[in-house]
Amino acid sequence: MLAVAPFTIDPDITLARTLPSAFYLDPAVHALVRERVFARSWQWLGDLDDVAEPGSLAPRTMLPGHLDEPLLLARDAVGELRCLSNVCTHRGNLLVAAPCRADQIRCGYHSRRFDLQGRMTFMPGFEHAKDFPAARDHLPRVALAEFAGQAFASLAPAAPFTDFFDGIGARLPWPGLDQMRPDPARDRDFEVAAHWALYVENYLEGLHIPFLHPALNRVLDMAQYSYHLGRYGSLQLALARAGDAAFELPPASPDHGRRVAAYYWWVFPNLMLNFYPWGLSLNVVQPLAPDRTRITFRGYVRDAGRLGGGAGAALDEVELEDEAAVASVQRGMRSRLYDSGRYSPSHERGVHHFHRLLCEFMAAPSSPA
Ligand code: FES
Ligand SMILES: [Fe+2]
Repeated sequence: MLAVAPFTIDPDITLARTLPSAFYLDPAVHALVRERVFARSWQWLGDLDDVAEPGSLAPRTMLPGHLDEPLLLARDAVGELRCLSNVCTHRGNLLVAAPCRADQIRCGYHSRRFDLQGRMTFMPGFEHAKDFPAARDHLPRVALAEFAGQAFASLAPAAPFTDFFDGIGARLPWPGLDQMRPDPARDRDFEVAAHWALYVENYLEGLHIPFLHPALNRVLDMAQYSYHLGRYGSLQLALARAGDAAFELPPASPDHGRRVAAYYWWVFPNLMLNFYPWGLSLNVVQPLAPDRTRITFRGYVRDAGRLGGGAGAALDEVELEDEAAVASVQRGMRSRLYDSGRYSPSHERGVHHFHRLLCEFMAAPSSPA
């Protein structure tokens, strides 16, 4: 167990102080968060196009640069999809290097074989081994969920996938994601010289929009900006100013009749799903070091005719404005004269909620309340 002082955040936002700067600076905290937060949450594994056919295999690395867990998506002959460890149970060789069609998984090192359900079926040279094969000679299976054509997995889920995704997901402008097509021209990888949680905190509040994003501020009605907290996520509703791009929402939507410019949906700890009238920008925040973070953007277009307008128009410009602020805060965290601050009760409820979740996960290795 790592020797890290426990962090607590007052549940009353009108009194609470933010996380202390040690949270962002201490490498031991970074390692603790990796195991207690990231290994126990649901992580994006991309789409399932390369493992669509029965009898197919596709390797994935869970959260590259941080968890770095080698996984294997395996669709068996009857079409059932599983997520398995991609590490051979003999001496740890990586099993599958690239997507392929196969009726078995064969290790290239000493030829141990597994079926597509992960059961060890054959191993040369083990005729005299006792208690072999045993359960631990099969490939470990990892919790997997499919959501709108995307795969998510969790090594040790703190709660079921539906607890993380269902509540807020039901409010969004569906059907949508499965009707969108990936648009590689919108894909980006950014790197920012800051702690990953600083990037997330910045995302979770609109307080900075008038000051940091003048162009975005011109198309949003900040007086109507609103925050909605879920158990493991939050939603920010940005409404358009008169005349600017907004969703046409069906009567079934709880937001029918409102001019929504963007839904900013965050799923704890590091996934952002930004819905605009043109489609979706999916962002995955990937910690690389305590002071270095990669953000992967993936674009999915529903209505190409609406790409140029509203809150979803100048995403690169807004991103660079955010990154500059977050990198500046990272330098502030190193100050001997700063430790922590306060939350805006009207605009930083999402940040407060995020910090409370971090403390909950860091304190409870197996089963948070
Ligand atoms: S490491 Fe796979 S068979 Fe030896
Ligand atoms: Fe921003």
